[in-house]
Amino acid sequence: MTQLSFLNQGKDRVRTRLQALRQELQQHAHRYHVLDAPTLADAEYDRLFQELVALEQQHPELITADSPTQRVGGTPLAKFATVPHTVPMLSLENAFAAGELVDFEERLFRFLQSRAPIAYMTEPKLDGLAVELVYEEGLFTLGSTRGDGQVGEEISKNLKTIPTIPLRLLAQNGEEAPKRLEVRGEVFIGLADFKRLNDERGKAGESLFANPRNAAAGSLRQLDPKITATRPLDFYVYGVSDPTALPCANQQELLKYLGSLGFKVNPLVHLCRNITEVIDRFAELREQRSTLSYDIDGMVVKVNDFALQERLGAKARSPRWAIAAKFPASQATTRLRAVEFGVGRTGAITPVAILEPVQVGGVMVSRATLHNEDELRRKGLMLGDTVLVQRAGDVIPEVIKPILENRTGREQPICMPRSCPECGFPLVRAGQEAITRCPNPECPAQRVRGLIHFAGKSGMDIDGLGKKAVQQLVSQGLIQDIPDIYQLKGENLAALDGWGEKSAANALRAIEASRTPSLAKFLAALGIWHVGEVTAQLLARHFASLPRLLLAGEADFLHLEGIGEQVATSLVDYFQDPAVREMLARLEALGVRVQDEKQALEGGGPLAGSVFLFTGGLAHLSRHEAKARIKELGGQVASGISRKVTHLVLGDNPGSKLTKARELGLTVITEDEFLRLISR
Ligand code: IVH
Repeated sequence: MTQLSFLNQGKDRVRTRLQALRQELQQHAHRYHVLDAPTLADAEYDRLFQELVALEQQHPELITADSPTQRVGGTPLAKFATVPHTVPMLSLENAFAAGELVDFEERLFRFLQSRAPIAYMTEPKLDGLAVELVYEEGLFTLGSTRGDGQVGEEISKNLKTIPTIPLRLLAQNGEEAPKRLEVRGEVFIGLADFKRLNDERGKAGESLFANPRNAAAGSLRQLDPKITATRPLDFYVYGVSDPTALPCANQQELLKYLGSLGFKVNPLVHLCRNITEVIDRFAELREQRSTLSYDIDGMVVKVNDFALQERLGAKARSPRWAIAAKFPASQATTRLRAVEFGVGRTGAITPVAILEPVQVGGVMVSRATLHNEDELRRKGLMLGDTVLVQRAGDVIPEVIKPILENRTGREQPICMPRSCPECGFPLVRAGQEAITRCPNPECPAQRVRGLIHFAGKSGMDIDGLGKKAVQQLVSQGLIQDIPDIYQLKGENLAALDGWGEKSAANALRAIEASRTPSLAKFLAALGIWHVGEVTAQLLARHFASLPRLLLAGEADFLHLEGIGEQVATSLVDYFQDPAVREMLARLEALGVRVQDEKQALEGGGPLAGSVFLFTGGLAHLSRHEAKARIKELGGQVASGISRKVTHLVLGDNPGSKLTKARELGLTVITEDEFLRLISR
């Protein structure tokens, strides 16, 4: 049928056609903008759109607020109105290092008085503007900026111009749209769009935006929505003001639900089972960052479970259940003068970039690690290159890439050495490993670094035995290996250059204090390949004592969540090494007593031998949490009632299990009694 024939028909037919057109256009726009999977040729879309425009022109009284023609419209505002947020839009606390994520989880454990595993949703943190979109009966009615968190500016018309913001929520199978839904997310501009926008502005003689974030902010806070409509704004959803009324138990389900309503959800969101996975994911995302078509400044980490979120609640400005793991922001360019090769404590040969000194984030940088040979090759660096340098967190400077446009042709290739720069031993690179190592166990560089690590902050943290002191002790022949530290004599120390009675006494006192380390600390201090503080803690919690750990085989290690093949092999190689066994024996003989971990996670544990069963609802924690906690303490959970059950935990509205338990004469406890059992 032609367009004209429709125009001649009755209003009802027009209304029906309008509705069909809008629905079809909405679906195609969703496929095109949100799913990035169009099923309709652009020309066909345009034809449908023009038909809609023509029909609406004929019947302006039939125009609806959610019509795709209404994305741009209305007259410029004199000023923005303000809108209070029904639920404050909070901000997030920041974490700048992996250790701070572990601290974050420790705070959660403390607050919850439980160490039950916590799953986290991780989401790229887009660097744009937080906005709130209100939908009533499925229709977009109000949009606002975050403002001061309590009150924002009303920018509905501007938000309507963003193609990835639905004007009407997609219909759910058989379910009504929520009566009122307050959706939150980030408005941003992609990197390519940003460049194009700035190029155009440059050509037009207009001022340039400093970065995509400023461009997005400037575009969104336009009083004339027609200007906003010309800006390439985009939107990712990340939450709602109050999820409790929705059919979602956790953040993962919420994001899926919001996706089904037609919102764009970042495809890089990722559920992690524990904080170790979060830390890994953060490292991964940092790697991915440079490949993304938009800028991110970190990763948002959210406790996945809504019941847990609710228990955790919020502080004044930020929720307790989330944190922003931030990427380092500062970058600069400089010249790569030379590459030196260092020998690490594991014999790893690390290429180090020697740079023309440059300020990065307020700190002068003249050296940066290039990690290993593969990294070096992957980055395609050459001597004399202009390079982009970035400071990771507040510590490690890093060379990101060469600026190829600045090449002159005089740059020289970088060659890896064939023998150890410290001891001359021929270097090896084993099969799968990315690392070239000096295999000489006597290599003086490795010994010194191993000792520095042992006494240092991520090891035993012995005051007075910092890097310089250890180097001095080694070069003076006072120590060669770890046990030697515990044989140091005051008079020898006091006689050293720069030392005196007092510093010698202090160092001895600190060494004394390190004779009873926790298992985790001791394991981390040993400097076993691939075993850092997090893995050391995991091992300590699981094995609880050094003798038990020494009995473990590869399979026992692999069995542990968070330990892969590489770590397991490394542990076995280390502890099976006769030299290591001898060293441990010497330490023991010298009075070093590694403390047992109080709480064993396996076999033993305070709840070993107990079998729990639940009936009715728990008020203070979810069944899932309760079960995880029991397992953590060495207990078991039954799936049904039997004589094996040692404790029936009575919740609200207990079911028939209670009667049966009484018949069987089982111990029945209240939730409070249970909580006491599992709190430590
Ligand atoms: S959640 C209470 N999720 O980061 C929860 N925020 O300081 C707070 N942001 O203003 C927001 N991506 O603009 C959340 N996936 C994400 C985010 C995200 C970016 C921004 C947001 C907020 C700021 C937090």
